[in-house]
Amino acid sequence: MALVPYVENPLPALSKLHNSSAQFRFANHDLHLTQDWKKLGVAAVVWDAAVVMCIYLEMGKVELKGKEVIELGAGTGLVGIVAALLGAKIVTITDREQAMDFLSANVKANLPQDTQGSVAVSELTWGEGLERYTAGGYDVVLGADIVYLEDTFVPLLQTLEHLCSDTSVVLLACKIRYKRDTDFLSMLKQRFTVEEVYYDKQRDIHVYKSWKVPPRRDL
Ligand SMILES: C[S@@+](CC[C@H](N)C(=O)[O-])C[C@H]1O[C@@H](n2cnc3c(N)ncnc32)[C@H](O)[C@@H]1O
Repeated sequence: MALVPYVENPLPALSKLHNSSAQFRFANHDLHLTQDWKKLGVAAVVWDAAVVMCIYLEMGKVELKGKEVIELGAGTGLVGIVAALLGAKIVTITDREQAMDFLSANVKANLPQDTQGSVAVSELTWGEGLERYTAGGYDVVLGADIVYLEDTFVPLLQTLEHLCSDTSVVLLACKIRYKRDTDFLSMLKQRFTVEEVYYDKQRDIHVYKSWKVPPRRDL
């Protein structure tokens, strides 16, 4: 499966992806994320969706304090790092196997000592080995720019269904690039209630909040 959806010599708007690092300030912390497009492609750069997700999390509209959070397709880990800095009790930051070393290094470099114990970096390829993650065990599931590969839509949805209980909240920050991206939202709506809760016009990123549709009770 292709890891790199864009060719080199990118559009000016994408050239920041080729920088060796990206800096941000969230949750009163200066964060320095290492990037390595050439080595790992999409998993090793900070996408605008991650930045918008962090902006949304900072608004405090979704409770993180004391919550168990999991991030899917974390890439550099920016979103999971910010969730931990904003007070989540436990944060599991996940991506595919190839991204683990890079992700772990970024997470370690950006978390103060006293927060490191509540954060774990762990391999999770959507739809695979889900039994390693507690069914319905997460209060908040986060994903930034993870809706872009049609082949992954079914396993991604399966993963969300596995991780969520009836009270879990899923936040997806999405760049809608192609029609197929909205197809995923239609699939999601068959199992979850989906609400757009934020739109960043400058970056053209939508944030969707979802929660499981309760099972139908036939009398
Ligand atoms: C566009 S990047 C977004 C990275 C990060 N969330 C961000 O916004 O900066 C998509 C991420 O999804 C991950 N990904 C793609 N397919 C996956 C799969 N089948 N299972 C788990 N992660 C996957 C990639 O490794 C990559 O880190």
